[in-house]
Amino acid sequence: MSMRLSRRKTLGLLAAAPLAMSPAAARPLAALGPAAARAGLIYGASASRALFDDAAYRTLYLRHCRAITSDVDLKFDWLRPHGPARWEWGPADRLVAFAERTGMAFRGHALIWNENPPGWLKRLSLAEIRRVFDEHIDTVVGRYAGRVAVWDVVNEPFWPGHGRPGGYRDGPWLAAFGPSYVARALKRARAADPKAVLAVNEAHCERDDAVGRAIRKGMRRLVDGLLEAGAPLDALGFQGHLQPQLPYDDARFAGFLHELGAKVGRLDITELDVNDESFPDDVKRRDALVARRYRDFLTHVLRVKQVRAVINWQLADHYSWYAGLARNGELRTRRPPRPLPFDAAYQPKPAFGALLAAFEARSRKPEPGNRKGANR
Ligand code: XIL
Repeated sequence: MSMRLSRRKTLGLLAAAPLAMSPAAARPLAALGPAAARAGLIYGASASRALFDDAAYRTLYLRHCRAITSDVDLKFDWLRPHGPARWEWGPADRLVAFAERTGMAFRGHALIWNENPPGWLKRLSLAEIRRVFDEHIDTVVGRYAGRVAVWDVVNEPFWPGHGRPGGYRDGPWLAAFGPSYVARALKRARAADPKAVLAVNEAHCERDDAVGRAIRKGMRRLVDGLLEAGAPLDALGFQGHLQPQLPYDDARFAGFLHELGAKVGRLDITELDVNDESFPDDVKRRDALVARRYRDFLTHVLRVKQVRAVINWQLADHYSWYAGLARNGELRTRRPPRPLPFDAAYQPKPAFGALLAAFEARSRKPEPGNRKGANR
């Protein structure tokens, strides 16, 4: 690109790039991690065993990621599938060590989640569940203390569909403690690792429907309650599993982030991908629509100065959780989904260009989110 182009023209070209041309052809050397860093952001992706089994996939992480989130290895049902006394540390140890060795920030996901409790946990008494809860946090956070940059201490606290008071997601931890399990988890995690950034991570907040509104309301109340009670809440995570087939409002979501950012100080987009089940079969058209969804979302979200990280949920389409859902017939189509920045041959897609352009746009603003009206 000619250095003589005016700044305005350059901005225009970059904004058009993700949809108009192949980003790989345009800028073959671009890497997402450094581009994000120039914008004051950490870029990364979730990872699981494919990182170790597939060398080409690993190369992609090494090139683009400055952070790694555990996709499944630190979840309760993966660490303790067989019973209270048996721990499966191998995969989690390996992932944490990989992040350490390669200088990537590690995000531990997810310490406490009411979904997917193993059968043995469901059969315990409430008193026993309370004991397991405390022991779990002490043991897991303690084991990795000093090596985990951020913990998703509580994942998905809300699910209005469960009909619980306050819209809380039902499950063993809610049953055992009521909503105070969130504050309890944060306090115990802080005691076990005083340096880790402690986050509550939630889904669906960008939706502009009854579910999105109810979860945003729940999050506002939860955050206010936690701060009032002096619970150690350092960050909020917003998954960003974008569902373009449902109503959404990026400007409203950015306004919500702005509001919460003023209270909490750090916000992360933690599981970004685009569900393409409602898009046409044609791959070119589908990729363009996926990229547009990335672009529109990030254009709003990255104006919020407290947003500090953008994490994709895996990096290449065939490792997306949507690939599994499509195979199992849980989406409206069984075709292989294309939710991520790289395709199954590890080539960058238009979504990659959209991410890059969004990072570059933010890096051109000295103080993201501070411009007049940027967060409306
Ligand atoms: C998903 C994993 O990627 C799948 O492999 C697993 O089968 C189910 O969970 N929100 C979350 C993540 O917080 O933990 C979920 O991860 C995706 C939705």
